[in-house]
Amino acid sequence: MKKRDELNRAVSTARDFDPYPSEFLEHEFETYDLLREHLPVARSEAMTGGSLGRSDGWVLTRYKDSSEVLRNPEDFSNQVADYPVRPWIPQAVDPPMHTSYRRILNPWFTMDAMGKLEPHLQQYAEGLVDKMLEKEAFDFVTEFADPFPTVIFCELAGFPLEDYERIMDWKNVIMHASDGHPRGYELARASALDLGLDVGDGERLPSDVALAVRGRAAQEVYGYFAGLLEQRRVDPKDDLVTKLIEAKFDGERSLTQEELEDTLFLLYMAGLDTVASALGLIVRTFAEDEAKRREFVALMEEPTKVGPAIEELVRVHSIVLLPRRVTRELSFNGALFRAEDQVLVPSQAANRDPEEFSDPNEIVYDRGPNRHLGFGLGPHRCLGIHLARRELRIALQVFHRKLPDYHLDPDKMAVAFGGMKGLASLPLVKP
Ligand code: HEM
Repeated sequence: MKKRDELNRAVSTARDFDPYPSEFLEHEFETYDLLREHLPVARSEAMTGGSLGRSDGWVLTRYKDSSEVLRNPEDFSNQVADYPVRPWIPQAVDPPMHTSYRRILNPWFTMDAMGKLEPHLQQYAEGLVDKMLEKEAFDFVTEFADPFPTVIFCELAGFPLEDYERIMDWKNVIMHASDGHPRGYELARASALDLGLDVGDGERLPSDVALAVRGRAAQEVYGYFAGLLEQRRVDPKDDLVTKLIEAKFDGERSLTQEELEDTLFLLYMAGLDTVASALGLIVRTFAEDEAKRREFVALMEEPTKVGPAIEELVRVHSIVLLPRRVTRELSFNGALFRAEDQVLVPSQAANRDPEEFSDPNEIVYDRGPNRHLGFGLGPHRCLGIHLARRELRIALQVFHRKLPDYHLDPDKMAVAFGGMKGLASLPLVKP
């Protein structure tokens, strides 16, 4: 009887499953555990941030099923439709074209290539942390986790450093116009009013208004990229913008203006929020769990230990929801998927599957093997993986060398956002 009750609970939880609002985070892992046990291939009718402009779709919570989908781009396409202006390259492109784009990009993001950035990462991290720690109370996200990857990205791509706040603000509108991110909302609301749109009186913008302001910000970014591309055509430099201009698709032709802009756009979107979100969530865990923080601080200078520790922190703090579109009718572990159905693979759920990870909710710094999906899997596996690992390691080392002890600020609340989840604010105080 109990089993039947649990199954009924799983069915109604699945129907109402919506990982996009920040409130979902309060019962995120309980929900995934319930679904994984009783309804691992579940059907939701309520996904507010769903791709393909639809709220219904499948949700996968088992590691094995998730891996199967991510490895199979033929049946599970990345062409989903949640882009404010044009689809991003190579994220929204399927093989074989995707393979050609990755062939261009891969060599620029190897471990060796990223190793050359190490002194810059160190220097920027030190500068931002020193400034933040001048005060007794500070906001780890707005003062460090958000600007750090933005500054690094400007350096790598060849964007003028003095533009980094503008670049961060555009990102906050495009990614966070209506997910509970205060800065994203404030900027988006101002932009909507400027466009003469009805912003309503709720705490979130109506979805059509949010889409309009995201589109406007994206157009501004495209304009900014177009200007930079123009400059680099005249005056080439040792940066990503120049490399893209000089690249040859399949060794034959240059990239078109649209391809150049859409690739830059994805690199910009993928490289900023991800690192900021992971850092914010990790440091919140450390602020709440002194023992785990001390354990990390004790091992973080040991080269053989810190790498696996970072992987484990990414597994436990996975942030990305991976949407796919079904391309043909097929039966999938007891469910019938139809062409055009949307399938959501939350890396958070797969990464806590006890079939794959023993004690999945525990941080085990030397966990091995640790084949987590935090950076995805299959052809779209994170292009920036070596940069991301390095940014996380250096950010955590620099911060904890300077301040190994800290607490949550008792007078202020951290602010979380849902969807590709993270923190918009993490107020901390010195001991
Ligand atoms: C903690 C930080 C990061 C996490 C957790 C992360 C996670 C992911 C995941 C899960 C995917 C797979 C998306 C899919 O299958 O649809 C992905 C793709 C991607 N990531 Fe990252 N990422 C991080 C940092 C970065 C950085 C720093 C960059 C640098 C530019 C980057 C660039 C990309 C790109 C370009 C793709 C698309 C790859 C493709 O479609 O072939 N990421 N990332």
